[in-house]
Amino acid sequence: MAGIPGAAVEVVRAGAGRIELAPGRGGGTSAGMNTALNDLLTVLRFPSISTSPAHAGNVRECAQWIAAKLTGMGLATEVHETPGHPVVVARSARVEGRPTVLIYGHYDVQPVDPVELWESPPFEPAIREGRIYARGATDNKGQFMAHLCGVAETLAADGALPLNVIFLLEGEEEIGSPNLVPFLREHREALRCDVVAVSDTGMVAPGVPTFTYGLRGIACLELTVHGPAIDLHSGIFGGAVANPNAVLARLIAAVHGDDGRVLIPGFYDAVRPLAQWERDAWAALPGGAAETLKLTGVPALWGEAGYSDTERRWARPTAEVNGMGGGYQGAGSKTVIPCSAFAKWSFRLVPDQDPADILRGVEAFFQSIAPASVRVEVKSGHSGPPYAMDPHAPFGKAAQRALETTFGRPAALIREGGSIPIVQSFKDILGAETLLLGLALPDSQMHAPNENFTLENYTAGIQLNQVLLRELAGA
Ligand code: BES
Ligand code: MN
Repeated sequence: MAGIPGAAVEVVRAGAGRIELAPGRGGGTSAGMNTALNDLLTVLRFPSISTSPAHAGNVRECAQWIAAKLTGMGLATEVHETPGHPVVVARSARVEGRPTVLIYGHYDVQPVDPVELWESPPFEPAIREGRIYARGATDNKGQFMAHLCGVAETLAADGALPLNVIFLLEGEEEIGSPNLVPFLREHREALRCDVVAVSDTGMVAPGVPTFTYGLRGIACLELTVHGPAIDLHSGIFGGAVANPNAVLARLIAAVHGDDGRVLIPGFYDAVRPLAQWERDAWAALPGGAAETLKLTGVPALWGEAGYSDTERRWARPTAEVNGMGGGYQGAGSKTVIPCSAFAKWSFRLVPDQDPADILRGVEAFFQSIAPASVRVEVKSGHSGPPYAMDPHAPFGKAAQRALETTFGRPAALIREGGSIPIVQSFKDILGAETLLLGLALPDSQMHAPNENFTLENYTAGIQLNQVLLRELAGA
């Protein structure tokens, strides 16, 4: 019998096939938990990488498996085609006079590279020391499966739900949800709801229930510096034409001041200042600078002067170069002046910054500082607005009660630095606020090698969802 330190469940049999948990532990019925765990492992085996055209078939198979599962639970389920990956919508039997909660999640995942840094293959889920390791384990398959299994457990126990549930599961979150906004507009009536619930955010520390009332937005762009018409011999032409790599380096370096502030004109104009209560509350939370130092392995922290580590990550806007390239990348040396160089940027935005305004400002900035010796091209990528809601409104309070009941202590109220671009559209198009009940731990390694989800949080998440349905039904 393999005990799992720190987990509320024990694996009694774990092989290549089904896994069994020790009976009578980890809440729920043991049979239900066994099914929940095996269903998650099944979902994790689909390599549903949305950005990779080669994996489009796997993304679709994943959607179909989830749809079959929801159908099996007795929900009216549809797989909707889009110009990209499918959207799965499932609806519970109508209960008159009760609110409707739309549960959103995403079944697509980020790429796995660098794959050599994984201790076990990313799409062969492995359980070690109470954690499930796989791409998507936390982001977002483990978390939306906790929703799904919470609903399944409630149906198994009570035969019906205390309110109306609509599942909306998409396959394009990790690429900016390009087809979901039109989908929401088109299916506005069918998706009408009173509130949205999403588990796709984090907990401040293990065992600390966390309610997230704000997210950063995002705006992506690609900057290309074009120099000579073709790659040039750097001996023949070097010294007489500008090197695009060197110009790119200057452009990148011009974005931040020594105080960590972004120097793009107007960048901070629409930024809503932090409220004092937020600064005070966040300062008292576990985590903070020491924890960030440990989690990241950097020799020292860096950031905008005048703000704490937590404030920088949750409530201040940023400019990040996610990738750059140009010229020779192979072994040894090659004496060449490349014809172009590129940098891929993402800007994290906070209320009330507007992604389109920011993209315009960034482009104007690069054009204004580019030397005459090159041509600068800026291509906008995907974007999504920031989000903030009132955590003290009735549904927010109901969610916090569900968190407190499940974890046995009051929920921390936080904002977070990541983005879920569709959340603001739920408000704009469906008129509903989103409750963010995250189960990701700080060391879950989302988007990185060895992504993992604790069995403890999976079982807690399933319980949380059962309580949540009851709390929302009465709110
Ligand atoms: N689950 C994350 C967002 C998240 C992570 C929110 C941690 C809060 C805390 C989501 O799947 C994600 O990664 N979103 C992308 C969106 C982007 C690709 C448009 C992100 O934030 O980079
Ligand atoms: Mn993600």
